[in-house]
Amino acid sequence: MALRAVLLLSFAFTQTHTFEIQGGLMSFMPVEQHLNGTFTVSFHYKESYGGKCAHQLTWSCGSGDCGQITLSEVKDTDEGVSNVPPWCQSEGHILRYLSNDKPIMLRDTGCCWVSNLNGAANWTLVTHVDMGTRSDTHILNKSPVMTTIPTIRIPQNCFTTFPLQAHDPDGDQVRCRFGQASKGECDSCHQHPNFNLDETLCTLQMNNTPSIGVHVFEMVVEDYPTQAITLSYSDKTSSARNPLNLSMSDSDLVPLSKLPLQFAIEIHPSLKTCVPGVMRPQFLSPTPEYGSIHYAVLGQLLKLTLRAQATESIIYDFQLSGPYNMTKVLLQNNKDGTTEVHINWIPQESDIYRHVPVCFTAETRDSQSEMRCIVVVVAKEAPLSGQANISCMDNTITITLDKDSMQGVEASQLYLKDPTCSLTTNGSHIMATLSLNSCGTQMENGGDYMIFKNEINSIKETSVITRRHSVKIPFSCRYSKQGDVLTNFKNHKSDYIFTETGFGSFSYSFEFYKENTFKSMIDPSSYPVEVKLLDKIYMGIQAHSSLPQVNLFVESCKATPDDNPDNALYYDIIKNGCSMDDTLVVSPAMNTEFMFEIQAFKFSGDFEKVYISCRVILCEAGNPNSRCAQGCLSNPTRRRKRNSLVQTHEHVITQGPLILQKRGLLGSASAGGSQSSNKGILAFSGLFIIALLVVGGLVAYNIRKTKALDRSHLLSSF
Ligand SMILES: *[C@@H]1O[C@H](CO)[C@@H](O)[C@H](O)[C@H]1NC(C)=O
Ligand SMILES: *[C@@H]1O[C@H](CO)[C@@H](O)[C@H](O)[C@H]1NC(C)=O
Ligand SMILES: *[C@@H]1O[C@H](CO)[C@@H](O)[C@H](O)[C@H]1NC(C)=O
Ligand SMILES: *[C@@H]1O[C@H](CO)[C@@H](O)[C@H](O)[C@H]1NC(C)=O
Ligand SMILES: *[C@@H]1O[C@H](CO)[C@@H](O)[C@H](O)[C@H]1NC(C)=O
Ligand SMILES: *[C@@H]1O[C@H](CO)[C@@H](O)[C@H](O)[C@H]1NC(C)=O
Repeated sequence: MALRAVLLLSFAFTQTHTFEIQGGLMSFMPVEQHLNGTFTVSFHYKESYGGKCAHQLTWSCGSGDCGQITLSEVKDTDEGVSNVPPWCQSEGHILRYLSNDKPIMLRDTGCCWVSNLNGAANWTLVTHVDMGTRSDTHILNKSPVMTTIPTIRIPQNCFTTFPLQAHDPDGDQVRCRFGQASKGECDSCHQHPNFNLDETLCTLQMNNTPSIGVHVFEMVVEDYPTQAITLSYSDKTSSARNPLNLSMSDSDLVPLSKLPLQFAIEIHPSLKTCVPGVMRPQFLSPTPEYGSIHYAVLGQLLKLTLRAQATESIIYDFQLSGPYNMTKVLLQNNKDGTTEVHINWIPQESDIYRHVPVCFTAETRDSQSEMRCIVVVVAKEAPLSGQANISCMDNTITITLDKDSMQGVEASQLYLKDPTCSLTTNGSHIMATLSLNSCGTQMENGGDYMIFKNEINSIKETSVITRRHSVKIPFSCRYSKQGDVLTNFKNHKSDYIFTETGFGSFSYSFEFYKENTFKSMIDPSSYPVEVKLLDKIYMGIQAHSSLPQVNLFVESCKATPDDNPDNALYYDIIKNGCSMDDTLVVSPAMNTEFMFEIQAFKFSGDFEKVYISCRVILCEAGNPNSRCAQGCLSNPTRRRKRNSLVQTHEHVITQGPLILQKRGLLGSASAGGSQSSNKGILAFSGLFIIALLVVGGLVAYNIRKTKALDRSHLLSSF
């Protein structure tokens, strides 16, 4: 009788045991916007168990009009082969048909967390979806994507930092935080005083040694735009979204989407040593790096190799949290303690444009490796990086793509980081030439090298929601820090080179000259250029284009105290093609040249340097509809769509610095300015002393809202 009771009890125990969840998460992506204003949204979720998989999640509608489910399937993605420790994870896929773009909330709840130290029993998962159209990208938001392996095990003495995966396909700022019970985001919502959470980096750090046993983390992942934007809805309403600012109160922070990320971490007894590669497995090359992005193609096999080593333990398996149908083949080599696993995946139609999160660990009986996570981006066609040919020259980068390898892609659909730079074609190749200082090229420190990076992307301005970035070709050039390239780059700015569809590659040189004949330019190696206050400064811009008939137009020029043309402190010399300075003299020149002079001036205070930045355009010669033909416009109609055959985009070119020689002149000039009167202004035209107090206030108030400072305002504030 007693025996039977025991048997019954243990039976009941194993029954419930299989339903003890140890992790759940969800993310979503809009897949189609129908012409009648309805949407299809794709949801992927995971549920993890410490035994066999149970398919418990159903996701009911928590608020809003959640539409109808048109597809719902769930499949097991990875299961432990051995029983120590058992694990299972499954991936569910739901397609929902939404009849409008208003926010909705999906929710799931159930009774049984795996038994844990935090007293969490019931679990609740909540996903907030908002299908408003973003004002920055004009498309619908995609949620961040993330995953975790089903069973996380860390020896007590080895816990330092645990990075959570949180990748945003739109490039938004992601925030990870502990869920709040008051917002209904989770059930126990334990806040974990023994762990430090960095909300923007999404890393968990140890505060105090965590106790041995299972800790439950009920977290929320959110995405925020990097600039203030609005979401607009088909009913003509809209809603503002601001960048993440953690000093604001939680109730004022409104994310674009909100997702559940819940998991358990089991703290094991301490190991003899935590040195990676001894008892805890360590990943070796060619295992993909943490956070790396990989590209996969619909219907084509993606292969990844993971390799790990533990010299004093046996790696018996790898946990893999990836998409359904991602398979692994284990190859053991016990001689040096390394084990390899080959991962294969063939993306299906339903995976197109997905950013698929994948995490993995190597397992020994007593511990596991760090959890490493990558993202696989699925494209419809092969990524086009294979056929690119990059050549790195002293001031230029040229990228050439074989047109045959880019079926269906036109040069005009391709853009560099700065979208005013497109690519050009000669029939057999698509190419672009840019300089190290143009087209959004970014400089990164690579130790002994400086790396100049840019990227080709395709932007298709269609109403289709997810068809962006079907081409993405990052490229870079490395230059030794010892070499001449960087020294030259820092001072005198060499030619600015751009490429645009319809205009090919063209460049601008911007030089200072010695006198008003503009015959001899100032030697680039003698920069910075010294000038005396009220001296004449001679400048010349020349355009170089292989097209025979083009005109150069200088739309604006301004002076700034550094080489950032968007500096909030500036002085207009030319604006909308009109002279803004009494001392400006433009000399007659060829159609592709602009030669001009002004009197030297100074920004007061610490700003001894002056840089000149001009916005320049090339136009088809003689076309009366071009900006060049219009000349000075007092009321320009801005941002007309560029007709690529008539004129180029506006490009900004900068030269400098000019350094003001400190001479007695400044004192007398200031004295004159301080007795400011209209006469005084005329007498000292060309001397613009910008009062720092006024400007300082302006800069601190709003750095974006740059405002031209007019001279009378400046002089009166002495
Ligand atoms: C809207 O269009 C979709 C796809 O064309 C269709 O499945 C759906 O029934 C339509 N809905 C309405 C309300 O017309
Ligand atoms: C868990 O949920 C059940 C039913 O939903 C409820 O009866 C029970 O009180 C909950 N337990 C806790 C600890 O909140
Ligand atoms: C963040 O919010 C705080 C408090 O509302 C505010 O003082 C601060 O200026 C904000 N920071 C930014 C960068 O907007
Ligand atoms: C899984 O893979 C098989 C064969 O590779 C394929 O037929 C099937 O459609 C795939 N299923 C999913 C959901 O990707
Ligand atoms: C890349 O360009 C260089 C120089 O133009 C050329 O020698 C080389 O053959 C090209 N490589 C490919 C793969 O096209
Ligand atoms: C196009 O340019 C590439 C690279 O400069 C060159 O190899 C190719 O021969 C050119 N094709 C034609 C048709 O001019």
